[in-house]
Amino acid sequence: MSERETDRLTELAKRRGFFTGTAAAYGGVAGFYTYGPQGAALKDNLEGAWRDRFVTREGHMEIDAPTVMPEAVFEASGHLETFNDMLVECAECGESHRADHLVEDHPDSDVEDAEALPNAEVADLIAEFGITCPACGAPLADEPVEDFNLMFATNIGPGDSSPGYLRPETAQGIFVEFPQFAEYARNQLPFGVAQIGRAYRNEISPRKGLLRLRELTQAELEHFVDPEDDEAPIDRVADVVLPLYSVPQQKADDGELQELTVREAVEEGVVESDWIAFYLGLSKRWYARAGVDMDRFRYRQHLPGELSHYASDCWDAESEIDGGWHELTGFAYRGSYDIDKHAEYSDEDYTVFKQYDEPITVERPTVDPDMSYLGPEFGEHTGFTIEESTESGEHVRPHIVEPSFGVDRLVYTVLAHAYSQDEVDGEERTYLSLPAAVAPTTVGVFPLMDRDGLNDRAYEVARTLRDAGLAVTYDDSGAIGRRYRRQDEVGTPFCVTVDYDTLEDDTVTVRERDSTAQKRVPVPELPDTIGALRDDDRSFEDL
Ligand code: GAP
Repeated sequence: MSERETDRLTELAKRRGFFTGTAAAYGGVAGFYTYGPQGAALKDNLEGAWRDRFVTREGHMEIDAPTVMPEAVFEASGHLETFNDMLVECAECGESHRADHLVEDHPDSDVEDAEALPNAEVADLIAEFGITCPACGAPLADEPVEDFNLMFATNIGPGDSSPGYLRPETAQGIFVEFPQFAEYARNQLPFGVAQIGRAYRNEISPRKGLLRLRELTQAELEHFVDPEDDEAPIDRVADVVLPLYSVPQQKADDGELQELTVREAVEEGVVESDWIAFYLGLSKRWYARAGVDMDRFRYRQHLPGELSHYASDCWDAESEIDGGWHELTGFAYRGSYDIDKHAEYSDEDYTVFKQYDEPITVERPTVDPDMSYLGPEFGEHTGFTIEESTESGEHVRPHIVEPSFGVDRLVYTVLAHAYSQDEVDGEERTYLSLPAAVAPTTVGVFPLMDRDGLNDRAYEVARTLRDAGLAVTYDDSGAIGRRYRRQDEVGTPFCVTVDYDTLEDDTVTVRERDSTAQKRVPVPELPDTIGALRDDDRSFEDL
């Protein structure tokens, strides 16, 4: 997609109600976006599709935790100390920049992972490349590079005795309550806890629309597994082909994408954890259905310096927009880091009691020293006994496998990849080729003319479709061609036109967005037909 197309997407998003910068009336505020009616519906549909795939169909639990948490939570989780980005501030104009990004983006630089370098080294590179402030052009050579914590701080209640933070990831709301969820899961590993909700990051310079927000939506699954006993159900996704960009390939001069099935990726050790490989497979199928172009999609492994403080391995699902790759989802192997930390900092028991299949008998030596003999003869007179006991299980700390999806980046990717142009009846047309299952509106209903009873009949048809639970837009203004274009631009997959034949034979025209092909369908069959088309149970060609 060229730069111009992205600009057009932003323009379309604003004009047609997908998203727009927040508080423009007051000069706007970077990193905050408001979803309009189309965008909110698209986002909602994507969240619903995520819930269906990663929660309901996997039998996981979903929770809803607060977005503000006390400081102790983030002290334990490590965010207070380590959730930092590298900040360099221009002394001339006061603008703040991500120092690592400036270094990585400089044309003379071959540094791919500046985040992994010490601050002083990044400052040296800024000086060496003669990097200047992107806002005003002043040299940044003498400016220090400092850690900037990305969490938004607040106070809980009056005064400042109880500091709190807006959560930077939804995950901590799950980890901190782990003992309860383990109980709800009857201490049976593996089990998953999911959450869809807002997270907050005070990004240093958010400039990429929905791709870098200060208030964002995450859909996260924390899958708690027994590292000794639980194997991922690889068979379910074994044949899914993954486009993998591993660390060795990224480091090699001629490194390239490897197309491996999930099974091959595990057997060849390219993806170390079978659980991560399982989620890569599951998510690839899901992304394709959600409308991500699979020719502009890959899984990239984190370079060692890129890993978050909690992760031992991480693969990102990335999509290509404007020739650049953007992280959509992180699939992290968090080990037991988070629950170890909460166990260490709190008084709770963050273990699961793992019941043995059969109780086992264990022998333990016990020491019963006879104090009157203590001294040189201690060894001879100490009473050692072997005691037998029966144990029915043990306390274990599960490991955490975390697919963490960014919903806003998904919305943006799906829109960017759906943006299409062609020519219809000699006129250029813009349309969003969104999958019917996620499109904001499933069907537009139009009367051919706003008279002769066509409008009343069309209104009835719209009502019937709405009663069937379909997302319907009714439009009776302007020429029919213009009404089609309006729906094409917001990605409505089907349009129904009520015309004079409808009054005679009770059929309507159904037009399909991408092909613009039309078919006649009896009105009584319409709700089921449109529903089946939306759910991919029928194809338009087969009507
Ligand atoms: N719990 C793990 C976690 O938060 P992350 O990689 O920092 O991992 C997960 O974030 C996802 O959240 C990313 O893959 C991305 O899609 C989304 N995300 C993170 N920061 C974002 C931002 N500033 N704006 C929009 N989306 C963001």
